[in-house]
Amino acid sequence: CGIVGYVGRANAVPVLIEGLTQLEYRGYDSAGIGVLTSRGPKVFRAVGRVRDLTATLPSRLTGKVGIGHTRWATHGPATEANAHPHSDATGRILVVHNGIIDNAATLRGRLTADGVDLHSDTDTEVLAHLIVASDAESLSDKVIDALGQITGTYAIAVVDADRPGEIVVARQGSPLILGVGDREMFVASDAAALVRHTSSVVHLDDGELAVVTADSFRTFTADQTDTGKQPEQIELDVAELEMDGHGTFMHKEMLEQPASVQRMLTGRLDPRFGTARLDGLGIDARELRMFKRVKAIGCGSAYYVGQMGAAMIEDLARIPADAEAASEFRYRNPIIEPDTLYVAVSQSGETADTLFAVREIQRKGGRVVGLVNVVGSSIARECDGGIYLHAGPEISVCSTKALTHMAVGFALLAVTLGRVRDLSHADGTRIVDALQALPGQLQQIVDAEEAIGVVAKELVDADNLFYIGRVRGFPVAREGAQKLKEISYQHAEAYQASELKHGPLALISPQMPTVAIVPDDDLTERNVGALHEIAARGGTIVAITHDTVDFGDLPVTRIDVPRSEVELDPILLTIPLQLLAYHLATALGRDIDRPRNLAKSVTVE
Ligand code: G6P
Repeated sequence: CGIVGYVGRANAVPVLIEGLTQLEYRGYDSAGIGVLTSRGPKVFRAVGRVRDLTATLPSRLTGKVGIGHTRWATHGPATEANAHPHSDATGRILVVHNGIIDNAATLRGRLTADGVDLHSDTDTEVLAHLIVASDAESLSDKVIDALGQITGTYAIAVVDADRPGEIVVARQGSPLILGVGDREMFVASDAAALVRHTSSVVHLDDGELAVVTADSFRTFTADQTDTGKQPEQIELDVAELEMDGHGTFMHKEMLEQPASVQRMLTGRLDPRFGTARLDGLGIDARELRMFKRVKAIGCGSAYYVGQMGAAMIEDLARIPADAEAASEFRYRNPIIEPDTLYVAVSQSGETADTLFAVREIQRKGGRVVGLVNVVGSSIARECDGGIYLHAGPEISVCSTKALTHMAVGFALLAVTLGRVRDLSHADGTRIVDALQALPGQLQQIVDAEEAIGVVAKELVDADNLFYIGRVRGFPVAREGAQKLKEISYQHAEAYQASELKHGPLALISPQMPTVAIVPDDDLTERNVGALHEIAARGGTIVAITHDTVDFGDLPVTRIDVPRSEVELDPILLTIPLQLLAYHLATALGRDIDRPRNLAKSVTVE
């Protein structure tokens, strides 16, 4: 969910709507705003997008204080009654919330027993009732009272019609920042909602609250200790938030990759010593030599790229490495080893499961670095160091450039770890040269977009697809299948090419195409063998491959990508799968940037 708030001299309404539009990637089931007008508090909510909400607003709605919300449903379906802001019975207190209140059912039961009418199915509504019921004097004390009765995670913004000049906010587990303007202040889940107004921001930490007025803000904890936060300057180019002539953000972001990877590599390669320069890691060579294991954690695409990265680290640094979904890792009482380097992988830096996994590692004495895109995000700040991805803002829910940057980040880490252990100078140089060649090779792939679009059309009628790969190619297949599911809603299942014959081959038929990852490496022959088994059973095949691979008389539709070094090939093999998913989904008329049921940044558990 996304939160936005405004208090100042101007009309809050356009600021809230514009902010919500920027935050829509965080959830787009329903949206709402609450404004303190000269005629009292007014709330407008709508199911659907921010544009659906805008359509319901009276043209002359004005107020100098307001809060807004765009929702990704957790408790209760996406209905107008469940959309935020929520209010108490009198409508005086308005609350927007991102997170989950764990004891909501108990509190709802207690409120109902006390005769309170609840108007929604949400956990959030209880907050409004608890706040108004508090007999504390100030709004901030009322909020502290209410928060003392709940357990769970939250970022909240609260306004009180009886005190129309202030917004009270609090953070516990979900992101929240303040934007400091000239006689106006902003509140938001992330900087994208405020950069048009100010570059001066305050990141709240868990356990912090703030009282925000047009001219001031005060940060403090629940026991009223001032935390004295000062604004920091952020650099975010507003132009990067625009679609720039592309029909969708996903398209723009895919085509940006040659340039964005070039930018990411700038200053980070050391061709002379055949290694990388990763100053942000904050780990010196002596310490790097001590790690006996590397473990990547992340969710969704970040997890699959973690698997690609683990293979690069095993290949180049010969350190045992693996990856795990952060959402599983944190719930299974993992054994945290002091000589393991943990790598938290996240575009947003706010994914709750990954953030809580980071905290679990740190609580148990583990060393965790971040591979994060959003500068100043929670994971970036809480990790002990890391590698910023520098992919620029990624707006499309479906990740493309950020995941490519994650894979490149792992390559940088792998070569760095390798060169302080037993990777030779010659091999280090070979990898550095390959990294330098990546932007040009990425350009070749995106230039072949039209041909990939033609292949996509062949797959449009398939309801089910296999994506197969072997060893280094398997995470590529997983990521490719994920991409297709996310935006086309076709069912795709990733399988190890080696495991096909142990079961799934039973499903092969002309109606079930296979997308196969077949790089030119020591496993090519085996991969081609698996394709023969598929073809013999009437399955059709699209191969993501190198032009040096010969499929003989196999009926294969091929998409060739340029060769890198074998260890880095997965980076390039992933790109056509993005374009394939994009063109398939486009042909099916899907909403590319806002796929159903999803959100880009899942800041709830
Ligand atoms: C959500 C998105 C995925 C994304 C995952 C991790 O589930 O829908 O596309 O891969 O979160 O996001 P992160 O910001 O941590 O990389």
